[in-house]
Amino acid sequence: MPFERRAGELHADGVPLTRIADAIGTPAYVYSWTDVRDRYQALEAALQGIDHRICYAVKANGNLSILARLAKLGAGFDIVSAGELERVLRAGGDPGRVVFSGVGKCDAEIDFGIKCEIGTFNVESEAELERIEARSRIVGRSAAVSVRVNPDVDANTHPYISTGLKENKFGVPAPLARQLYRRAHASPTLDVVGIDCHIGSQVGDVEPFQDALATLTDLVDTLAAEDIPLKHVDIGGGFGVTYRDEKRLDVAQFGRMVRAGLGDRAIELLVEPGRYLVAEAGVLLTRVEYLKPATAPGTRNFAVVDAAMNDLIRPPLYGAWHDVQPVVRHDAPPLRWDVVGPVCETADFIARNRDLALEPGVLLAVCTTGAYGFVQSSNYNTRVRPPEVLVDGEAFAIARQRESISDLLRLEAIV
Ligand code: LLP
Repeated sequence: MPFERRAGELHADGVPLTRIADAIGTPAYVYSWTDVRDRYQALEAALQGIDHRICYAVKANGNLSILARLAKLGAGFDIVSAGELERVLRAGGDPGRVVFSGVGKCDAEIDFGIKCEIGTFNVESEAELERIEARSRIVGRSAAVSVRVNPDVDANTHPYISTGLKENKFGVPAPLARQLYRRAHASPTLDVVGIDCHIGSQVGDVEPFQDALATLTDLVDTLAAEDIPLKHVDIGGGFGVTYRDEKRLDVAQFGRMVRAGLGDRAIELLVEPGRYLVAEAGVLLTRVEYLKPATAPGTRNFAVVDAAMNDLIRPPLYGAWHDVQPVVRHDAPPLRWDVVGPVCETADFIARNRDLALEPGVLLAVCTTGAYGFVQSSNYNTRVRPPEVLVDGEAFAIARQRESISDLLRLEAIV
């Protein structure tokens, strides 16, 4: 566990969280590198014996220090924008190990990807395939393509993060995929390399992956018979983690399933985990500013903290539950609090109905916020975004500074 109590106080690896808060203030995101590394290595171990590539989904946490360290471990990257590609390049990642997903790649992004010779575009529609072909002619270089198949499997997850159902906007059904492969294969500037899917996020069971893999390998075999050989099968990301009591994906079981599913096909497996590698490695540190206890029956106890929905949008957006822990335990009897931020919206809550012993100034850790935390933050209410701190063993460093108000206003003019 990356965040443990020592003498009653929460630490990130060997560093007390109070020390970090005192040094850089709150709110602040704190990540444990050792936890990210351990997760990566656990996944590596689970996939041992399978020709594979872990393409970390940059969208989960794009901090350059994390990307650079993952690149050093040999990771590839799953990206969804030119900005994410630029991040990978700056972090020293290998563009040849990049897969570019997303339904709306624009010309500039396609051109950038082609020029960087990325590993593959994961093509999400017929129109996109045409566009990539046209751009590759204009750029004068070939483009590596894979088709994202929508396997129509139910990942049993939140509707906003489910992507592999036929009603979702992602990928194409298998019969259309076949046509697209034929077309791509016949193109002089397209290089057919793989097949892809991503069924959704927070998937705790192996079965949905197994169903999706079966759809993909069927297509692999059909295409091989048509003399369109594929080099890789990308099963996507979405490996579930535990926020409260959800089932974490058993990666060892996943590895066994994949080994059986691929059989003796000579094909590389790609996975695109984001959350699995970083979620549990992060906390958001925040301090209680004010207590606003209930005043009458039907009113609630509010603890107003210095982090808000602009820093962490997951609770209001997905109804996500994040554990909230006092960094130093208090003996006072707990009360039931709604932990809310300063933003002028009723939706601005971090947590509701939590039994906590609080007083103004108390430091809290909002847990499991390493994924889709900072990356989904905004400047709503002209609030600066928090810094990101990376802890590695006994040491910590600021991996991204706190924004200043001038940073926020820099691009604006009074016209
Ligand atoms: N690959 C593709 C094509 C994806 O669309 C995603 C996530 C991933 C991989 C990585 O999924 P992961 O392993 O991290 O679950 N903001 C939401 C999650 C949105 C996920 C979107 N796609 C949240 O906070 O829960």
